[in-house]
Amino acid sequence: MTAETVKPLVILGAGYTGRLVYEREQVRGRVVFATSRDPDRHLLFVPPERRLRFDLEDRTTWRNLPPACNLLWCFPAEPLELVQEFSGNLTVRRLVVLGSTSAYQANLSRDHPPPWIDETAPLDLEKPRVQGEEWLRMKCQAIVLRVAGIYGPGRNPLNWIKRGRVSPSRKYVNLIHVEDLANICLAALAQGIPGEAYNVSDGTPRTWREICHLASERFEVQPVVEVGDGSIGKRIDNRKLLSLLAQAGVPLLHTDLLRSLEQIVAAETPSEATP
Ligand SMILES: NC(=O)c1ccc[n+]([C@@H]2O[C@H](COP(=O)([O-])OP(=O)(O)OC[C@H]3O[C@@H](n4cnc5c(N)ncnc54)[C@H](OP(=O)(O)O)[C@@H]3O)[C@@H](O)[C@H]2O)c1
Repeated sequence: MTAETVKPLVILGAGYTGRLVYEREQVRGRVVFATSRDPDRHLLFVPPERRLRFDLEDRTTWRNLPPACNLLWCFPAEPLELVQEFSGNLTVRRLVVLGSTSAYQANLSRDHPPPWIDETAPLDLEKPRVQGEEWLRMKCQAIVLRVAGIYGPGRNPLNWIKRGRVSPSRKYVNLIHVEDLANICLAALAQGIPGEAYNVSDGTPRTWREICHLASERFEVQPVVEVGDGSIGKRIDNRKLLSLLAQAGVPLLHTDLLRSLEQIVAAETPSEATP
């Protein structure tokens, strides 16, 4: 553990992922602050003295951040002009930014399965959040995590199927469980290389057809829409992430989708009252 990593941590945008990181750090006894645009409504899990109001779009809130902290940025880094202005005044030690695998250009190939995508693949720099992430990576030495689809308690892929958000298509999807993502954020803060990007997924791209089949066979969940839009999706290569995690001694806990879905379903099912 270096002196840098024990600086206070500020979680910028403590939503689904940020809240779990907050809870992990709290348990470890670390000094951790969480931000929200409406802290007294959204940060009830944080003691008042550790709640900060921060809105990238409201410059008056920028000064609420403590100096010389480590920062975990958990919302889309856009628009570029504000990201540039905000980051120009930053005094952070280590900066980890949550990006998205949607940063990679779509339809690079028409092959099925699509080629594996590592961190050197071309980016879609038309996207405002990709412009912001790349600025932070190159000018502020941010560690950018290009994150696959996040699932976990309260974000259950079986519900995406039930509600028709996805169909049994041949499109590839890459997933990461929020518990693993929280651990990865902390590993990146501690040991990620400044200025580098890391793909974040569980390492097993699956087609929606495969996931829908699993849903139907093991959970009796049937898709409600039949047609895909014809897109092929991506296969995200997570080898760079795995070497970071190996170095940090942090295992991926959720590589078996069936088991993880069973855990989510069990947690959602009210337990029967014992007599
Ligand atoms: N969901 C996915 O499958 C997925 C996949 C790949 C990447 N990602 C990316 O991963 C990151 C974390 O995802 P998540 O689902 O944990 O995020 P989330 O639940 O949306 O949490 C981020 C929080 O940031 C705050 N926020 C939003 N815009 C802000 C702004 N302009 N200024 C200050 N605070 C702002 C919001 O909280 P308040 O309303 O309390 O301010 C929001 O709840 C995001 O960047 C997301 O785009 C998500």
